[in-house]
This record gives sequence, structure tokens and C-alpha cells, in this order.
Amino acid sequence: MTNKFYITTPIYYVNARPHIGHAYTTIACDAIARRQRMMGFDTWFLTGTDEHGQKIQRAAEAAGKTPQVLTDEISGEFRALWDRMGITYNDYIRTTSDRHKSGVQQLWKQIRDKGYIYKDSYTGQYCVFDEMYVEVGPGEPCPECGRPTETIKEENLFFKLSAFAVQLLDLYTSQPDFILPETRRNEVIAFVRSGLRDLSISRSTFSWGIPVPDDPKHVIYVWLDALANYITALGYGSADDSKCKKYWPADVHMIGKEIVRFHCVYWPAFLLAAGLPLPKSIVAHGWLLFEESKMSKSRGNIVRAETILDVLGADALRYFLLREVVFGQDGSFSFDALVQRYNSDLANGLGNLASRTLAMITRYFRGEVPYPSQKAAHTAEEDLLAALAKHTISEFHDLFEQYQFSRALELAWALVGAVDKYIVENEPWALAEKQDENSRARLATVLYTSAEALRIVTALAHPVMPEATAKIWSQLGLGDIRKVSLENLRWGQLQLGTKLGKVEPVFPRADKSAIERMQKMEEQQRPAATEAPPSAASAGASEGATQGSVPLNRPVSPETPAVPTATSDGKITIDDFAKVELRVAQVKVAEKVKGADKLLRLEVDLGYEMRQIVAGIAEAYAPETLVGRKIVIIANLAPRKLRGLESNGMLLAASLEGGKPVLAGFLEDVPVGARLK
Ligand code: MSP
Repeated sequence: MTNKFYITTPIYYVNARPHIGHAYTTIACDAIARRQRMMGFDTWFLTGTDEHGQKIQRAAEAAGKTPQVLTDEISGEFRALWDRMGITYNDYIRTTSDRHKSGVQQLWKQIRDKGYIYKDSYTGQYCVFDEMYVEVGPGEPCPECGRPTETIKEENLFFKLSAFAVQLLDLYTSQPDFILPETRRNEVIAFVRSGLRDLSISRSTFSWGIPVPDDPKHVIYVWLDALANYITALGYGSADDSKCKKYWPADVHMIGKEIVRFHCVYWPAFLLAAGLPLPKSIVAHGWLLFEESKMSKSRGNIVRAETILDVLGADALRYFLLREVVFGQDGSFSFDALVQRYNSDLANGLGNLASRTLAMITRYFRGEVPYPSQKAAHTAEEDLLAALAKHTISEFHDLFEQYQFSRALELAWALVGAVDKYIVENEPWALAEKQDENSRARLATVLYTSAEALRIVTALAHPVMPEATAKIWSQLGLGDIRKVSLENLRWGQLQLGTKLGKVEPVFPRADKSAIERMQKMEEQQRPAATEAPPSAASAGASEGATQGSVPLNRPVSPETPAVPTATSDGKITIDDFAKVELRVAQVKVAEKVKGADKLLRLEVDLGYEMRQIVAGIAEAYAPETLVGRKIVIIANLAPRKLRGLESNGMLLAASLEGGKPVLAGFLEDVPVGARLK
């Protein structure tokens, strides 16, 4: 059996700052990596950032920065956050680094030399948000994320994905653990069975990417570039590929469920084409939801990890995410639930067990661990606790191996609960008041038993809460917890006479103000100038005679969503007005809507994202005259369907009595995405 273990996170896009959705994956991987090290495995843990592609190029343009400046900044933020959270990554790969670029080009050549790349022209729809080709007609939204797609007409290089369908299906059947959990595996099997089309793996209409070897007009498709990080970081294609030899194939690629297809279909196909070994397992978890929807920058509903670190510390976040969310399923985040869980399980649970047990040993035994006396009646209670601890150690192990972090922690905390009850029932404080030998011996047994259970829970919880458990460990007088071998963890290893360290509380109770403080800190962060607006993903057109455009010279209908209600004198307040999010957008695509004389379908660029808007201006404007024009839109309207097309926003136009609508515009040049206030 090999004694190595290689685990990876997805590499995160640098178009947005990190939030606790990203932290969730990274924390899960860190907990696994730490545990594997404590189990004696030679562990390699990789994370990093995904920095190429059209999405990043556009985000940089919108922020008025060069892509390299933006990527340096945001990649640095991810890394700084992981450092602050005590993430024990062994390597941090950036796809703009030279080592990565040369590795990707090498992989390309290897696939090409085996005959799996050919040139063809491509016309179809592309979703920039997902950096993915989608099989929908022009004007139709992305089936994955619902955002507008863009029509692409390019001569591209193609990968013969279709050649791998049979091998992939064999792989999924012969290695049931290749895709976990099973629901994702079934989805992938259904997808591959429905037929695989060859994949365009180069782009030639923008330049922010890795040049195709011998064809530098093209850049390599960002997903081929990104997936290769898992091997380029190990030195694949470089002079020193010793790490590749040692750690590849990966034991676990941990990902969110939305990128399963890239990891479970494209990635193994690329590797098969290149003749390289396949990863052992791809584990997809669910989404962290906030306010009922997936936490993401484009929805504007993110929670930053820093806020939680400032108020409750990294361990609280780590514990909460792994305990509260059933791994594999979606889970909701709320500050209330976080503080409640922190108080019940950490402040009152483990923290309280540690402080009361250690304080009593300090007081009654001058800070030295007493040994369960031979003479004292050894009751069935101690045997039961020892049996429970033994069961906890082995079950915890199995559950962790199956990525069932929540159940593993629940089990360990059942031991905390059992010891608490044991302490309450045995009243060591009352035993301490009696001077007879039997009471003294019994007191030693009760405190030893409690301290031993505390030691076991602390060791098991260390990969999840490294900082607090390290403190408890040293308060128990046991030195450096990272040296503990979990493989050899057994009941009864706590040594007689162990001198306790300085006893201090580890999880101070959080009061209600903690919730308010965190909420306030997050509110102050939104919406930042270059960030997406709160309801960006669900904005749409409103009712109205001009269908999808707001006439400037007449009052807006009170039924219109997101339009403030008037005060008694018919006026609105400045706060009401502030609710309407007006932004500058640039028309990228304009076309007539079939069967509707008045309607045009527009794709507009807001800087941070593309939108589809359906507007009643076809009689006033020929579609081709609009492309490139900067207009004003209401960006935070609920979506609305017009002729079966979803309209995500509404443009502003003057409505002239008996005349045609006239679009609002600017005399000076204004940047795309700028807000009007
Ligand atoms: N760059 C690609 C991945 C390339 S891997 C070769 C990408 N990046 S991303 O920045 O969008 O990060 C996606 C990953 O971040 C998800 O797969 C998941 O691991 C994590 N999450 C981001 N938001 C999340 C939630 N709201 N909930 C849970 N995980 C989330 O896709």
C-alpha cells in the first residue's frame, strides 16, 4: 500500500474576492489533509487560482486594470485568507505562472501528438460566466446558469472528446468511487450516455490565456488550462517531475457540484488522450446558500470569511461549516445559526468540558493528572465511557473517510455530552470536600476519566479546529498536537502525573451583539463599486407600454417591481430612489425578436456580467445601429418573460407623444457598469 496522499481544491477564479463558499471547500480539504498527516500519510495538499479566460479579462476591463494586476491582487487575497485561516496547503499554483504555462503547453503537445486535436470552425453559443460552450440557439440563455450566451464564430482547435465515451463509461462502472457522491456519478453517466461531442479547446477572439504551441493566434481553452494545474503544480512537463512521480495520481479532487462535468468528463478524457494516469476520486459537495440562494458574487449575497474570523475566529467557521452542512448536500448559512452552534457545541460543549475538567485537576490535584485508583470502586460508568470512546474513535474514522464530517463531529460531541453528564452525576466538587481515602480515589477516577475523554475528542477534532485543539492539548500538558498519531489513538493513554499547562478558556461565549456586529460588517461591504448588484442574477424588465423600456417623461407605474412607493404628497424620498439601480451598459448584440414587430433582443455588457434585455424599441432603432452603444438600464428588476425570452433589466428611453422612444445616453464617454445616482 502506498503511503502518499494527494488532495486538491478547485483553483478559484480571480474575478471576485474569496467568500465562505470558497472557504468551505478549502476547509474540507484542509481538514482531510491534516487528518491524513496525523494518520501517517505523506500528504500533499494543493490549492491556487485560475487566472485566464474571457471572464477574467472582462472583469479586469470593468475594474480599469490590466488582467495581470487584477489577478495578482485577488490571487494574493485568496492566499492571505488561507494563511490567516491556518490552511496547510503545500503548494499554491497560479495559472499565470511560468511553471504552469509550460506544463499546459506540454500537455497540449502530448494530446496533439497522439492525434486527438484537429482544426475546424465553430459557430455556437458560449457562456462567459461558466466559461463553457452550450448547446442552445442564438439568443437563448445558458442552461446551467440562466445568463445570456454569446454567439461565437471562430476557427478553433478541437479535442476528440467523442472518442472517449466508451472508456469513460467503463471507468465509471469499474471504479464506483471515481465520482462521489453517487447522485453526481449517476448524472455524469447519463450525460455521457446521451452522447459526447468534440470540444473546442482554443479561442482566438481574445488574448488572455496560454498560447497554443505553434499556433499563437489561439489561446488554450481556459478549462483545459485550469484542469492541468493538478499536474503542472507537481512539475509535470518540467525538468524536475519527481513530485509528479511521487504524488500523481491525485487521491481526491474536491470540487463544488457545478463543476462536475469538467472534472469527471473532460479531465479524465484529456488525461486518457495524453496517456496519463487518472485521479482516484472526484468528490463533489453541495452549495452553501445564503438567503435561500447559492452564495456567489453575481448574486451579491456573499459572506466574507474575514468577518467571522474577526468576531469568532477561524475554528468557529471551520467547525460550523463541517458540522452544520451535510456534505454533498446544499446547506444554508446564517449568522444566527453560526452563533448558536458556536455557543452550544464550542463554548458550552468542548470549551466547558475542557475548562471545568482542567480547573478541577488544577485545584484538587495541584495540576497533575491523577490516575484512576486501583482501590477505588471502578464503576460500570467508566467502562461505558471507555467503550463509547473506543467506538467513537473507530466510527469517527470511518465517517471521515466517507466525507461525512457532520456525522463524525456529531458522534464526537456525543462523547462530550456523555462526559458532561458523567461529571454532573458524579459531582467531583462534592467528592473533593470529603477527606476519606475512598472519596479521594473516586475523585481521581472521575477526573482522569473526564480528562481522558477530553483528550480523545481533542485529538479527533484537531483536523477540524486546529487552533483551539492545540491549545487544549497543551493545557492538558501533552505538547505539540501535530505530532499525535491518530492511527494509534486509544483509550487509557493519558499518563499519570502529566503536568497541566496554564488553563485558559478557549471558546469565550458569544452574545447577541456578535450576530449584529457580523451583519453590520457585511452590510458595509455591499455593494462595492465593482461588485455585482444584490439582485443582479434575477433582474428583469418591467411592465409598460414600451415593453422593456422606461419612458423618462412620465411617472413610473406604481406596480413596477422595485419602484418605491410615493409619500402622501406624491414624492419619493432619496432613500426610495436609491433602491433603483441605474447603470451604464453597452450593447454587444442586438437582433429582432421573431414575430414581434416592436421588440429587440439585446445582450448588454454591465462590466461585471452580460445581460439579456428585451425592449420595445424595434420601430425606433435598427439592431445594427445599437451595437457598441452605451445605454442606461435599471439593473435590479425581477426578470420577466417577453415572447418566451427572459428580460433581465429595463432600458431607459424618452417616450415622445405620438413619436418613437429615444434612448437615454451621455455626451461624455462613461465606463460600462457605472452607476447613476
Ligand atoms: N476556476 C474554476 C475551477 C477550476 S478547477 C480546475 C471555478 N472557480 S470558482 O471560483 O468559481 O470556484 C468554484 C468552487 O468554489 C466551487 O466548485 C466550490 O468548490 C467553491 N464554491 C464557490 N461558491 C460556493 C458556494 N456558494 N458553496 C459551496 N462551494 C462554493 O469554478
